[in-house]
Amino acid sequence: MPRQISKVGVVGLGAMGAGIAQLCIEAGVETVGREVTSELGERARERIGHFLGRKVEKGRMEQGERDAALERLSVTTDLAELAGCDLVIEAIVEELEPKQELFADLEQIVGAAAVLATNTSALSVTEIASAASTPERVVGMHFFNPAPLMPLVEVVRAERTSDDEFETAYSFGERLGKTPIRCHDTPGFVVNRVLIPLLNDCIRVLDEARVTPEDLDTGMKKGAGWPMGPCELVDLVGIDVHVHASEALWQKLREPRMAPPARLVAMANAGLLGRKSGRGFFSY
Ligand code: 3HC
Repeated sequence: MPRQISKVGVVGLGAMGAGIAQLCIEAGVETVGREVTSELGERARERIGHFLGRKVEKGRMEQGERDAALERLSVTTDLAELAGCDLVIEAIVEELEPKQELFADLEQIVGAAAVLATNTSALSVTEIASAASTPERVVGMHFFNPAPLMPLVEVVRAERTSDDEFETAYSFGERLGKTPIRCHDTPGFVVNRVLIPLLNDCIRVLDEARVTPEDLDTGMKKGAGWPMGPCELVDLVGIDVHVHASEALWQKLREPRMAPPARLVAMANAGLLGRKSGRGFFSY
């Protein structure tokens, strides 16, 4: 049976975590966001306030609703303030050890019935859960970028996830207005298993077909119905984030298409990270 969720913690308020926290407060759920510094926490609050403000300006939300939503968000640097949360969603750096440490710490803080979810995109939920003494309450909730706009959440069952925790995460995804899908913990889960090598193919085609990023994007939008071209999409996701996820899948699956294309690795090394750095394939 899914459990009732009254209060949620979101750990890590970068682009994904802030988007997830925004979804929670918009769904009427009291939310505690945790960042490592108060400056980063405030930046996330401002980002959320900005996007909710845009909704008001576009007539998609009342000013009072925006203010009430923001009231439901508290931001802290102290993990202990997540004590009363029924569900914690982790969206910190995509590295195994920090995630494992975080889950072990969270177990000491939250109540025994709290569900612990990770938003990892390319790491194993089972490996993250292995550091916890109660791995049965660890589940994957993988959102897509930009989290407030993309309808999907993959609910990932790790080897030892129990049914109640899994269904709690699934029904919470629905409560956020998302379309959840159930899957098992395999590299890249469902969408990234397909999308990452596909995007890598697109980038390799840039050199092979000597097509410009603009024309490649036009090709995929007009010829394949993509809402966004592949270069624009990798710029949105972050070139470093894509390379990192691609590397993780390559290590697990050893399929050549999974390996990050040299062109993307060079761009990441040069600080051309896409939208967030002001320049990737395109300038922002
Ligand atoms: N958070 C909150 N709100 C946001 C936002 C964000 N990060 N980004 C944009 N918005 C809001 C803005 O207010 C914006 O309006 P404004 O520019 O007037 O202020 C508004 O959303 C845009 O909304 P629209 O409905 O007009 O957007 P579009 O119709 O242009 O669609 C899109 C945008 C949904 C991003 C569409 O282009 C799309 O579907 N692109 C594909 C994205 C995709 O494939 N994502 C998956 C990436 S892979 C991934 O995430 C996996 C991970 O593991 C790496």
